[in-house]
Amino acid sequence: MKFFIDTANLEEIKTCASYGFLDGVTTNPSLMAKEGISDQRERIKAICGLTDGPVSAEVLATEAPDMIKEAKELAAIAPNVAVKLPLTMPGLTATKALADDDVAVNLTLVFTPLQALLAAKAGAAFVSPFVGRLDDIGSDGMAMVGDIISIYTEYAFETEIIVASVRSPQHVLKAALMGADICTIPFSVIGQLAAHPLTDKGLAAFLADHRKVAEKPAAH
Ligand code: G3P
Repeated sequence: MKFFIDTANLEEIKTCASYGFLDGVTTNPSLMAKEGISDQRERIKAICGLTDGPVSAEVLATEAPDMIKEAKELAAIAPNVAVKLPLTMPGLTATKALADDDVAVNLTLVFTPLQALLAAKAGAAFVSPFVGRLDDIGSDGMAMVGDIISIYTEYAFETEIIVASVRSPQHVLKAALMGADICTIPFSVIGQLAAHPLTDKGLAAFLADHRKVAEKPAAH
């Protein structure tokens, strides 16, 4: 499973790259706003300089012709830009046109397996089911991912599934066990993946044991 980081923060992306598992980046208008960015182009260019993997940049237009125009401008920033469009009817129209022009599209704000089926049929390179936001309303986000995997496997669609709106290591674990292509993970959750109290306790004990002999005067 590929690890994308779900952020527009350059330091978080650089840190994730230093761990050796940065396969791509996803952004959205809310993540850009969190960084105080209103024109995302410079930031997308900077992010593309930090990874060769796909970098999702979301369009703000809502009608198909405007979406296509904006998406082509974003795609021209770097070869690894994937344009992110909402799963709406205009979004599907724009996806078909962009896919025909070999522009990689990530269809986002996906909350049902049927929306994901439409994304694949329109030719999206990626689909982003939002698991956390479904869990938030008492539904089962990962069950939706399981259904999408079943449908895509049954019909051999090549659209890659990006498990998004990830809130906890459990989401990452379930995504990996289900065989999702990609999980896009917030920086805070990436930190939680490595942390375990027994790792910290074990390390402290190893170091304490080492100090006991290292600080002992050498025998003559
Ligand atoms: O990239 C979009 C998605 O991951 C949003 O997550 O936490 O705002 O539901 P969240």
